[in-house]
Amino acid sequence: MADVFISRRIFRETIEKLEESGHRVEVNDSSRILPKGELIEKIKGKSGLICLLNDKIDTEVLDSNRDLRVISNVAVGYDNIDVGAATERGVMVTNTPGVLTETTADFTFALLISAARRIPEADRHSRKGEFEEWELMQPHLGVDVYGKTLGIVGMGRIGRAVARRSKGFGMRVLYHDARRDEEAEGELGAKFTSFDELLRESDFVSIHVPLTKETKGMLGAKEFEKMKTSAILVNAARGGIVDEDALVEALKRGKILGAAIDTHQMEPRVHPELAKMEKHVVLAPHIASASRDTRLKMALMAAENIIVGLKGERPPNLVNPEVIPK
Ligand code: DGY
Repeated sequence: MADVFISRRIFRETIEKLEESGHRVEVNDSSRILPKGELIEKIKGKSGLICLLNDKIDTEVLDSNRDLRVISNVAVGYDNIDVGAATERGVMVTNTPGVLTETTADFTFALLISAARRIPEADRHSRKGEFEEWELMQPHLGVDVYGKTLGIVGMGRIGRAVARRSKGFGMRVLYHDARRDEEAEGELGAKFTSFDELLRESDFVSIHVPLTKETKGMLGAKEFEKMKTSAILVNAARGGIVDEDALVEALKRGKILGAAIDTHQMEPRVHPELAKMEKHVVLAPHIASASRDTRLKMALMAAENIIVGLKGERPPNLVNPEVIPK
C-alpha cells in the first residue's frame, strides 16, 4: 500500500484501478493547476505522482519529497519533467505512448485539411448568414491536399500514422529524422531527406518530434524563408518547437501560406497576432489526443505505470530505465 497523488481531475476508473491495487489516492479534483508550493505540500509523503503535461516537475519539486518513487505523466511528451534530475534521485518517470497515436494522427490530418480547405473560415461565414449564393469564384477558395507533398519532421509512431493517412490522399511523403526508418520507407514509400530539402519541397510540413534542447525553436525565420510560399505548417507536437513570432511574420509577409496549430509556444496563451489571422490559419487548444476513449486509455496507462513501478518492478512505459539497477 502506498500513497499516490493525482494532480488534476481524472477519470473515476483511474482512481478505482489504483485503489483496487491497494493504494491510497488523493486527487486535486479540479481543473486548476496547482502552484508549485501547493503541489509540494500535496505530494509530501506520497510515493507516486500522476501528473499532466502542464505540471512542471523540477528539482525543487523533486527535492521536496525524497519518498517519491514514480512520476507518471499522462502524456507521451514529458518535457515538463526534469528527467535527468529525477534519474539522479532514483525516481522513475513514465509516459503514455502508443494509445494516442491514431487519435493524434487523425487530428493532425484534420488540421491539415482544415487549413488547406479553410473549413473553420467557411464555418464562421455560414453561421454568420454570409452564404448568399453559390459562386465559382467563391470567397473560400482553398488549396488541394490530394497529390501534394507532405513533409514529416520526426518519423516516430505519430509521424508514421500521419504518413499512412496521407496515402489515401495520393500524397508524396518526405521525412526528416535523426534516424532513417527503412520500414517506413518500404511500407509508405516515404523518402528520407535533409531538413532543408524537406522544407524546400513540401506543400505541408507536419511536426512530430518531441520538445528537447535540440528541437526548441527548430522552425524559425530561417526555416520559413526556405519553405514554399504556398506551404502550410502543421504543429500538433509541442509549441516550443516553433518560434511563433517568426511564424506570424512569415504569414504576414507571405513567406508561407498558412498554419494549423494545436500546440502553442506560450500555452495556454495563443499568440495574439496568430489569433487575429483567419485565412488558412487554424487554431486548436492542444486537443489532438482528445477523444474520450484515448484520454481514458492514457489515464489508465498512467495508473498501470504507477502500480507496477510502486511494486519495485519496471513499469511498461519507463522513460529513464537507468534508474533500475542492473
Ligand atoms: C501528449 O501526450 O504529449 C500530447 O501532447 C497530449 O496528448
